[in-house]
Amino acid sequence: MRVYSGIQPTGRKHLGNYLGAIRHYVTGQEEAQAAGDESIFCVVDLHATTVAYDPAELRDRTYDTIALLMAAGIDPERSVLYRQGDVPEVPELMWLLTAVTAHGDLNRMHQFKEKSGQQRDLVSAGLFLYPVLMAADVLAFRADRIPVGDDQRQHVELMRDIALRFNARFGGGDPQDPSKPGEQILTVPEGTYPTVAARIMDLQAPEKKMSTSSGSVEGTLYLLDDPKAAEKKLKRAVTDSEDPPVIRRGPDKAGVSNLIDILAATTDRTPDEVEASLVDARGYGDLKKAAADAVTTMLAPIQERYRALREDEAAIEDALATGAEKARAIARPVLADVREAMGVGPRR
Ligand code: TRP
Repeated sequence: MRVYSGIQPTGRKHLGNYLGAIRHYVTGQEEAQAAGDESIFCVVDLHATTVAYDPAELRDRTYDTIALLMAAGIDPERSVLYRQGDVPEVPELMWLLTAVTAHGDLNRMHQFKEKSGQQRDLVSAGLFLYPVLMAADVLAFRADRIPVGDDQRQHVELMRDIALRFNARFGGGDPQDPSKPGEQILTVPEGTYPTVAARIMDLQAPEKKMSTSSGSVEGTLYLLDDPKAAEKKLKRAVTDSEDPPVIRRGPDKAGVSNLIDILAATTDRTPDEVEASLVDARGYGDLKKAAADAVTTMLAPIQERYRALREDEAAIEDALATGAEKARAIARPVLADVREAMGVGPRR
C-alpha cells in the first residue's frame, strides 16, 4: 500500500490544512511503514506556476512548506519527501499521459473553470493541464492511496480514468470495453477524503470552509499564528445567540459545531465526547477557552520545530536532494515501462 499526496506551496497553511490533510500524512507515514511500504509527499512547485506568481516568492514558500511538513512529523528518512520540480520524470509522464486525456474532460474541471475566471492577464495552458500533471505525480509512483481534500475529488476521478484508459490503450486491452482492461502498467489509485468532522470552517463565517484564498485573516487560524493571536481568533469566533447557550452540534449552529469539531480533532476525541465534557459549561466562553488551549498546545511544538528547520535552507536542500534521489529511483522504471508501451524512444 503506497500512500501519495501533494501539497501546494502557496498560501499560509492553516488549521484546516493541518487537521484535514497534513496530520493524516503523518499517520499515513506510520501506517505505510508498519506495512513495510513507503509514503511519498510532494511539494508541487510546478503546479504553482499555473497561475500568476512571483518566482522568488515561490522558492521561499516551497521552503516554508517543506519545513512545515517536517515540523509536523514527516520524516524525510522514513518517507519520500520531494519537490516536484526536482523530478523530471513527472513532467515527462504528464506529456505522455496527454495522449489518453480527453480535452473535453479537462474542460469540465470545476477548478479550471473557477481559477481561469480569476486570472487577469493570462489563462495559461498549464492551468488547463493542471489535472494531467497531478495524474502524473501519482501515476509515476504507482501509488495506491491518495489522501486529499474534498475539493480534489474530480481530479482524482480523472486520474483514475487516465490510468484505466492508458492500461487499456497501451496494455493490450480495449478502451471501449471495460471487460478488457489490459495489462496493469499503471496502478489505478484511490482517493481517501477527510470525514466531515475534519472539515474546519472559517471562524468568522462558519458556513464556509477555512481557506487561504477566500477567507478573512480573523476567520483563518494559521499554523504559524503565535499563541496570543490564535487564542484571540478562537475567542472571537462567531457562535450564535441561543439563550441559554447550548453547546451542541446542529445544522443551525455552524459556529458552535465548528468549535466542537476543532476541539474534538485537536484532543483526539469524538464530537460527542466533547459535548459530554462540556455539559456543565457556563457558556460559549468555556468552549472557546478549551479550544484555544487545545489548539495552542498542539501547535507549540510544531512551531518550535518549524522555526529551527526553516532557518537552515542548506539543510532543507540536503533533505530535498535525498528526496529527489529516492523519488527518481521509483519513477524511472515506471517511465521506462510507459515509454516502452507507447513506442516512444528506442526499444528496450
Ligand atoms: N491539486 C492538489 C491540491 O490543490 C495538490 C496536488 C498536486 C496533489 N499533485 C497532487 C494532491 C497529487 C494529491 C496527489 O490540493
